[in-house]
Amino acid sequence: MATRATEGERYLHVLAVPLPVQGHLNPLMRFCKLLLKHHQNRGSLRVTFLDFYPSNDSAEPSFPEFHHDCLLQRVRFPLSSLSQKSPSLATFFDSLLCIQSGLEQLIQSFSSHGVPITCLLTDFLTTFPTQDVADKLGINRIALFPCSAAQLLLINYVALRDTLSMETVMDAIKSTERGDELFSDSVAGLPRLLIRDLPHYKHVVDETRRVWKFINRSWEACNSRAHAVVINTFEELEPSPCSLLSQDCDVPVYDVGLWIEILTGDTSTSMHEEDERCIGWLDQQPTSSVLYISFGSTTKISKPQFEALMQGVIDSQQRFLWVMRPGLVDDIDCCSASKEIISRSGKRGFVVDWAPQLRVLSHSSVGGFLSHCGWNSTIESIANGVPILCWPYFADQPLNARFIVDVWRVGLEFKHTGEDGYLIESHEIETVIRSLMEGKEGSFVRENAHELKQKSSRCFDSSGSSLLKLTALINDL
Ligand code: UDX
Repeated sequence: MATRATEGERYLHVLAVPLPVQGHLNPLMRFCKLLLKHHQNRGSLRVTFLDFYPSNDSAEPSFPEFHHDCLLQRVRFPLSSLSQKSPSLATFFDSLLCIQSGLEQLIQSFSSHGVPITCLLTDFLTTFPTQDVADKLGINRIALFPCSAAQLLLINYVALRDTLSMETVMDAIKSTERGDELFSDSVAGLPRLLIRDLPHYKHVVDETRRVWKFINRSWEACNSRAHAVVINTFEELEPSPCSLLSQDCDVPVYDVGLWIEILTGDTSTSMHEEDERCIGWLDQQPTSSVLYISFGSTTKISKPQFEALMQGVIDSQQRFLWVMRPGLVDDIDCCSASKEIISRSGKRGFVVDWAPQLRVLSHSSVGGFLSHCGWNSTIESIANGVPILCWPYFADQPLNARFIVDVWRVGLEFKHTGEDGYLIESHEIETVIRSLMEGKEGSFVRENAHELKQKSSRCFDSSGSSLLKLTALINDL
């Protein structure tokens, strides 16, 4: 039977609404766990996490039974666009608008069962419709921004400027030759950027303008109407972006990351089955000898680029663990591609569809990470002291790579990004992998990565920056 907190006891019931995409689900669940952990002994906190599932049913979620001892519960909620095969990003965002009435209904049924929602915690990219629901029902909304503080600073910078100049930048990004030019503006708090470091989405679909517009509108709504914004970063990692955001934004921004070590219990948000066999294989490899290769959950690689990558990895003679997510390579059957990789590399390589990435990155055999530089992969690598070989594609990934290489100096990069007809050749791949795994440059970035890991492990110490900010946020709630 549902019960609410007794009279006078502090009562908080958070409804968490994710964007149902792997790189957004993980940080939201991790933040919910963090809230629960640090809210202990401060009164009653309940978290209801919305699990979207593909269905064309009208949104009629079942009302869950709340038990006394249930602190985190999950509610299934239908979302028709999840049934569509590869909708464009902008179309996917638009499709979220249809959840509004179902969400209102759900919130009202919680009230009528005596466990009202007191706060919405929702992904930044679900601002429409969740901010509208929050405003309509008079509930605070906290937006989780799933990328870096630097990325939010850049969005804030662009949103403040007229869209025409952004249009010009987008045209420039489209031409590969100009991608290597310096971005003419110097953005306070950010290192000097190349044009190709600016966020673009043309790799997913040619829709940079639409997505940018959507992001800018979401940010304007957050900045003026959200109760707070939470970022999975910490002050010592991004000192200038964090301090500029707290000065420049109208909404309070809490940099309360990293949320790696709190992952226990039955709270997996993995959309794919993790292949645990790779851990047994890693157990048999020498310390720091394995290059982990993963491009996250959405990036796609062209067939010629995949072939050059496979050749480069094999020629580098390094051990590797490679995530060949189905759909990663255009026009290729991943199963036969995986077999080919294994047969050509012998016992030096292991291939999986999907890895338990946190366990992989914390494994002592892993000595490097060839990554697309999604924000989660970036901070998971940092938290484990693993140096990164950057292969950014779209969105915030190029900016993350700029910080990895030029600011934190915990990784290496290729001369150009591999896209738009530009192929990173196998011999360059071979050379850079060798540098990372056994060269002087590799030792340098490995040492820095180790130091950054130490810093990151202190942010939740008793006077750590993230803990102080989290306490302030909880008090604010
Ligand atoms: C998306 C965007 O692409 C990225 O730019 C943005 O920063 C976050 O949202 P995604 O591309 O999936 O994310 O990359 P990333 O942010 O790295 O998130 C992937 C998540 O999946 C990580 O938490 C990682 O641990 C997990 N993962 C990935 C696995 O558990 N197993 C795998 O095999 C691969």
